Amino acid sequence: TMENPENIVWHKCSVEKLDRQQLLKQKGCVIWITGLSGSGKSTVACALSQGLHMRGRLTYILDGDNIRHGLNRDLSFKAEDRAENIRRIAEVAKLFADAGVICIASLISPYGKDRDACRALFPEGDFIEVYMDVPLHVCENRDPKGLYKLARAGKIKGFTGVDDPYEPPLKCEIVLQQKGTDCVTPGEMAETVISYLEEKGYLQ
Ligand code: PPS
Repeated sequence: TMENPENIVWHKCSVEKLDRQQLLKQKGCVIWITGLSGSGKSTVACALSQGLHMRGRLTYILDGDNIRHGLNRDLSFKAEDRAENIRRIAEVAKLFADAGVICIASLISPYGKDRDACRALFPEGDFIEVYMDVPLHVCENRDPKGLYKLARAGKIKGFTGVDDPYEPPLKCEIVLQQKGTDCVTPGEMAETVISYLEEKGYLQ
């Protein structure tokens, strides 16, 4: 591999992350939304982007599903490809955060060790892990793309939650729960994340 080749030197520029952050009046970071298919990751990502945009904040969403159409079109759903999908998205998120943008990454990212590897790419505090804590049966009842049905019928192999693992975070910054009958709206979930960002000084 090409890790740390001696003849490639990091080029520094006089306009730095701090300068960009001052311009934008915010701190670049990544909100990493993990959870089962159908748990509402993309919906919350969108509500969060809207909520922040209305407050004059610059955001950008990296959605696993969408990025698999372009940058990650060469990747399957086997464990090593999921790991590579997540790694690439984390590297892109890091570029956005360095640009001063509040980057919202929304992908299943089922393995704890892959998510921890992403966290390790960021300065302390800048990787904000959000767990969509929605029971499998709720996701499966919603089945917005009909994929659980196909997976149960054996027409998709290795579907997360059906015949492929999902490891819930043992420790994360924010848990968004959707349990029982009392319904929490995506907008309310987004507000929880925005309050966290305010509290931690990401919005100046
Ligand atoms: S991962 O695990 O983080 O690499 O997955 P991600 O990039 O978020 O892509 C998940 C979406 O791909 C569709 N899909 C599958 N998901 C899980 N397992 C299998 N085998 C699979 N095959 C296709 C599915 O629509 C996921 O979309 P979301 O938005 O999560 O519902």
